[in-house]
Amino acid sequence: MPIMPHTFSASFLNHEPASATVQRLAVREAMPALSESRQQSPIEMLLALLRTMETHNPGHGDRTANYAVALGNAVGLARADLIHLHYAALLHDIGKLTVPDEILEKDGPLTGEEYALVQSHPRAAAELLEPISFLRVQTVLIAHHHERWDGTGYPYGLRGSFIPLGSRILAVADTFDALTSNRPYQPARHPESALRLLQRIAGSQLDPELVKVFVGLTAKFLEPAT
Ligand SMILES: [Fe+2]
Repeated sequence: MPIMPHTFSASFLNHEPASATVQRLAVREAMPALSESRQQSPIEMLLALLRTMETHNPGHGDRTANYAVALGNAVGLARADLIHLHYAALLHDIGKLTVPDEILEKDGPLTGEEYALVQSHPRAAAELLEPISFLRVQTVLIAHHHERWDGTGYPYGLRGSFIPLGSRILAVADTFDALTSNRPYQPARHPESALRLLQRIAGSQLDPELVKVFVGLTAKFLEPAT
């Protein structure tokens, strides 16, 4: 069953990004609550599985989570929403477990069929996570992490602020880490080059306000991915 954002009313899932409100709460301050969460054990099991399969870009989930939480914190998300976002980021590529490694690691152009399979991963993740009631928020955020600000993304072609805010944050964090990581089809960019590219795709692929905030934050974590 498709997961659509209107099935949830929490403001975190569908509100406009805070404009200039950049709170100074350090990301690490939000982290202790994670260890108190009842979700830890089953989520950790999922994460362990995911990390063993993350051979095409080791550490991608963890780095994406760090960037996403920093950005979510900067736009004023509540601590509970930061925790949801943290786990959503860690799990965001779990749908790629349904895509063969030879496609994920292919260094040439994908065929139409292969590309369609890669594009199916947000929907596959939603189908995988939807039965897990304590991951309901994460399911929605992950389902929409490849939507684009201009409405040309997938799987639903949602546009602008109709895309859940948490998913728009994931998209910025995910894109930055992908650009600064060595991939089979492209070498890692220097972070400054990646930020310039983010600014070029702000307003088409990515939420322009979020990109602006993210660029302002990068001094805190401007280290090339290893
Ligand atoms: Fe993805």
